[in-house]
Amino acid sequence: MEYVLANLILSLSCFTTLINCMLPVPLRINAFHVPTPVVTGDSVLLRCAYELGNETLYAVKWYKNEGEFFRYVPAAEPPLKMFPQTGIDVDMSRSDKNSIYLRNLSLESYGNYTCQVSTDRPFFRCVQTTRQLEVVVPPSDGPILMEEKSDYELGDNVSILCNSGKSKPAPELKWYINDQLAQSDLYDKETVVYPDQMESSSLALRFRLKPDVLHNGRVVLKCVATIKHIHAVTIKEIRAAGSKETRPFTSSFILTVMIALILLMTKD
Ligand SMILES: *[C@@H]1O[C@H](CO)[C@@H](O)[C@H](O)[C@H]1NC(C)=O
Ligand SMILES: *[C@@H]1O[C@H](CO)[C@@H](O)[C@H](O)[C@H]1NC(C)=O
Ligand SMILES: *[C@@H]1O[C@H](CO)[C@@H](O)[C@H](O)[C@H]1NC(C)=O
Ligand SMILES: *[C@@H]1O[C@H](CO)[C@@H](O)[C@H](O)[C@H]1NC(C)=O
Repeated sequence: MEYVLANLILSLSCFTTLINCMLPVPLRINAFHVPTPVVTGDSVLLRCAYELGNETLYAVKWYKNEGEFFRYVPAAEPPLKMFPQTGIDVDMSRSDKNSIYLRNLSLESYGNYTCQVSTDRPFFRCVQTTRQLEVVVPPSDGPILMEEKSDYELGDNVSILCNSGKSKPAPELKWYINDQLAQSDLYDKETVVYPDQMESSSLALRFRLKPDVLHNGRVVLKCVATIKHIHAVTIKEIRAAGSKETRPFTSSFILTVMIALILLMTKD
């Protein structure tokens, strides 16, 4: 009895599998993978995964904006073909029916990429998907700090300008006082656009050097520049002279300035 039941279940599942196999699966693009943003000079693999159902592939065509730059036609000889376009450098040896490998990316690589899949006789159907590829030129240097003076006394107004290196787009700047985000006014911000399309930004930090901002006689100021997920950090420390020594505190609050320049370029 159990045996019969098991057999019945088995044949039932076989039957449903058979039905599933015969169900028409529509032509479609399952996934279009465009890792963005990318950094100039880097390479990137764009992937277009598709399902044909019971149709036959005619061609996979790749477009940047309106222009076709790559084509895979299995019936053609050779099946892979590329068409020159500015900002497009396809590594043919690493490209196939599903993916294209773009190397040496430049600002001109920025744009909308389309993967278009079309089928042959008798259906001649076509599906396509578009994604934008953003290109970033990272700053060659971390932010630079410019200040009116370098020696501070308690009660002084500190005024420091943080200038980013040139990049595209301009980074977003943030000031931190002792790891706490400092508020900044709109007029403290500025963005400059250069003739070569590159940009830079600056942000001023102004605050009164009051005892409550000093921790163990020092205040740590940090300027962080961020473009998408790329960060560059410049840290500055204002330290009270001799505060590490056990010498009694004198009324002369001459502060010496120590600049610690830390350059972090992380891409996560
Ligand atoms: C699959 O092939 C059959 C027979 O050729 C046809 O009737 C059906 O429409 C096709 N299905 C799709 C999704 O193309
Ligand atoms: C990369 O592209 C730049 C201009 O976009 C060009 O000057 C350089 O020669 C290229 N490098 C390689 C390895 O193709
Ligand atoms: C890419 O597509 C978006 C949305 O359709 C459009 O706003 C943008 O202008 C396009 N970019 C280019 C370079 O064509
Ligand atoms: C600091 O700035 C405030 C106004 O923001 C001003 O009243 C004060 O005199 C300034 N202090 C010094 C030492 O310049």
